Amino acid sequence: MKNSRREFIVQSSLGAGALLAAPLVAQANPGVSFSQSLVGDTLKVALIGCGGRGTGAIIQALSTKENIQLVAMADAFKDRLDDCYKSVMNSRAKDTSAKAVPVNQKVNVPEDHKFVGFDAYKQAMALADVVILTTPPGFRPYHFEEAVRLGKQIFMEKPVATDPAGIQRVLAAAKIAKEKKLNVVVGLQRHYQNSYRDLMKRVQDGQIGDVVSASCWWNNDGVWVKPRKDGQTEMEYQMRNWYYFNWICGDHITEQHIHNIDVINWAKNGYPVRARGTGGREVRKGKDYGEIFDHHIVEFEYADGTILNSQCRHIPGTWTKVDEHLIGTKGKVLFDSAKILDLKGNVNYAFDKKTKENNPYQTEHDELWATVAAGEYKFADAENGAYSTMTSILGRMATYSGQIIEWDKAINSGINIAPSRFAWDADMPLKPDANGLYPVAVPGKTKYF
Ligand SMILES: NC(=O)c1ccc[n+]([C@@H]2O[C@H](COP(=O)([O-])OP(=O)(O)OC[C@H]3O[C@@H](n4cnc5c(N)ncnc54)[C@H](O)[C@@H]3O)[C@@H](O)[C@H]2O)c1
Repeated sequence: MKNSRREFIVQSSLGAGALLAAPLVAQANPGVSFSQSLVGDTLKVALIGCGGRGTGAIIQALSTKENIQLVAMADAFKDRLDDCYKSVMNSRAKDTSAKAVPVNQKVNVPEDHKFVGFDAYKQAMALADVVILTTPPGFRPYHFEEAVRLGKQIFMEKPVATDPAGIQRVLAAAKIAKEKKLNVVVGLQRHYQNSYRDLMKRVQDGQIGDVVSASCWWNNDGVWVKPRKDGQTEMEYQMRNWYYFNWICGDHITEQHIHNIDVINWAKNGYPVRARGTGGREVRKGKDYGEIFDHHIVEFEYADGTILNSQCRHIPGTWTKVDEHLIGTKGKVLFDSAKILDLKGNVNYAFDKKTKENNPYQTEHDELWATVAAGEYKFADAENGAYSTMTSILGRMATYSGQIIEWDKAINSGINIAPSRFAWDADMPLKPDANGLYPVAVPGKTKYF
């Protein structure tokens, strides 16, 4: 079996030495990079997906001290691209080089390097050395594949896919990226956050003994809604209101809660073998809310029997928490408060967040582009990005079906929920009924196997 559990445990353990301060497989194969030819040159960057995160990520990339220039932009929609361009040009940020260059002076995107539509990514990537992939996750496998094929250095946001077929595409491309020594950073930014790096090193050093249980949460009010507008095709509507459609978003267990689940995978140095759970839509009702649930409660089981209790909820007016806890045989870690406790609850160690915490969104760009500029190869985050994304998809399959879902079966299922083609007039797999409502998974009735 191509992606058997055994194979990825072996792969993970290869990276274990590098695990402490870096993503799961980073630095597994350090050395001279495909980017060596870029040393001394201006790094030309293409931004693919010019929304909120894309705007933040490009400003962060341009804020590094590296000689990097934005040369091309791609978005499905012209208005989103134009807004992003304006935001970057109006930004007052300066880079961290000795010259403190304003980031807008590092932009050189003429009108004919602004590309719009589903194929825009190909045109923009062709003009660049390095790419930033910040569309919604449904497109990531295709964009990552193309970037790897072209030999680009890559920053890509999480999640990296929304279904098992997409995960397999990312894993296959990740293998090629490693062979080509292309640096790949995935925006699971806790791996680039000082408190997490410090606490995780202590976990790996055995300070809390063996991790035998874990909990994680992403409970809050939820996110934006983009109501349907007259004249939109079904594809355009789903693209604009993308959070609520699984082929493009993956549900909030994948789109947001992946951050927390990934931290536990990092601590366990592996991935669950099965998941079981419950979930539904208690308040997220009505035609603006597509098909996703508003809560998922999942027990993820690791090979050694460790249970991760995971909760994510988007329900206004309920208690909020975004955090991860580990329970070990000798103590506990509370990541949000950055503390290590003994088993009686006494604080044994506290990371000083006030003086030592960093902005991990900036650090991931500082480290990546410095590595690329030096012609080195240090970052191979794609595989862990794919497996942590798959963990979240496993959870979704468990809550949607109400069944126990086995990792091996799910990741090799070939389940593909994407439309058969990406075009404004595409026949969408998920359609609203006469009242504008979409079919929603029903535990006990929804089946995968
Ligand atoms: N790491 C983090 O903490 C963090 C925070 C926010 C968002 N994100 C991730 O960043 C990604 C983008 O989220 P966002 O909040 O910026 O969403 P957004 O809607 O603000 O931006 C997405 C942009 O991608 C464009 N787009 C969609 N399909 C495209 C395609 N096929 N080709 C080109 N452009 C396309 C959209 O038009 C939009 O401009 C998501 O994967 C999200 O999970 C990560």
